[in-house]
Amino acid sequence: MTCQIAVKAGLMEPFERVSTGIPKLDQMLGGGLLKGKTYLVTGETGVGKTILSLQFLLEGLKNGENCIYISLDERIEGVLRGALSLGWNLWEYIEQGIFHPFELRLYAEDLKRFGKESRAFVDALARIAAGRPVNRIVLDPISALAAGAREELVIREYLREIVNMMEEKFGATTMLTCDIPTGSNKLSRFGFEEFLASGVIVLGVTRFYGKLLKTIYVRKMRWSRADSAIYTFEIRPGEGIVILEPLSEVMDSSMLSNL
Ligand SMILES: Nc1ncnc2c1ncn2[C@@H]1O[C@H](COP(=O)(O)OP(=O)(O)OP(=O)(O)O)[C@@H](O)[C@H]1O
Ligand SMILES: [Mg+2]
Repeated sequence: MTCQIAVKAGLMEPFERVSTGIPKLDQMLGGGLLKGKTYLVTGETGVGKTILSLQFLLEGLKNGENCIYISLDERIEGVLRGALSLGWNLWEYIEQGIFHPFELRLYAEDLKRFGKESRAFVDALARIAAGRPVNRIVLDPISALAAGAREELVIREYLREIVNMMEEKFGATTMLTCDIPTGSNKLSRFGFEEFLASGVIVLGVTRFYGKLLKTIYVRKMRWSRADSAIYTFEIRPGEGIVILEPLSEVMDSSMLSNL
């Protein structure tokens, strides 16, 4: 009762929040991700989805949290070396026993038996966790899970089961990346992944005066007052994703300097 009144009066945050590792993004999300929920990071190829998801895991690892990273297309060795190019030594956390990176391959025929197979997928994650509490999970990219399957209903049920089971079984905050075709204005590969997630972060690239500007915005954030502006960002060694000024300000200042 006291808690309800406190929430009503706006005295208390009703959800526990988890930092993305990017302070400005936490602000844009209304204070961070909701603990134990699933989020989608979507965007065209090469825009920074994997880097954002690793930054999210790194934030947990620095605080001693148990984190699982599942690569569904790239070799783990390549991902770890790529992270090192940004100054992030993830091997250190593997040695500490808190970072569990894995590669997983799934084939179209597996999707046909979605109920049983999605349970098998989540059971595989549970074996990786080996009874330890898991705080953060990344599946990168979930679009690869469904590659080759033709029936939308099968993919939808399969992904829905995976998301539900992961939330129920682990209570971990989960980030799913999703690649969308270049030039498309869809939010996800199959057009329904965004409905499964509690929030959607969209990364993009905009051509502007002969330059490519990377952009980021929050498209959906359940139970939060999210910032609706589109921001520009850069990927910097040592820092990863650094969010800069809103796209509108970059455009206004460029126009003024061209007057
Ligand atoms: N060491 C680095 N320093 C600066 N920028 C980098 C560095 N490594 C990668 N980048 C930038 O990050 C981009 C790739 O990021 P990332 O791999 O996260 O993209 P992605 O969206 O996951 O791509 P894909 O769809 O291919 O998986 C590159 O295009 C480059 O701009
Ligand atoms: Mg990637």
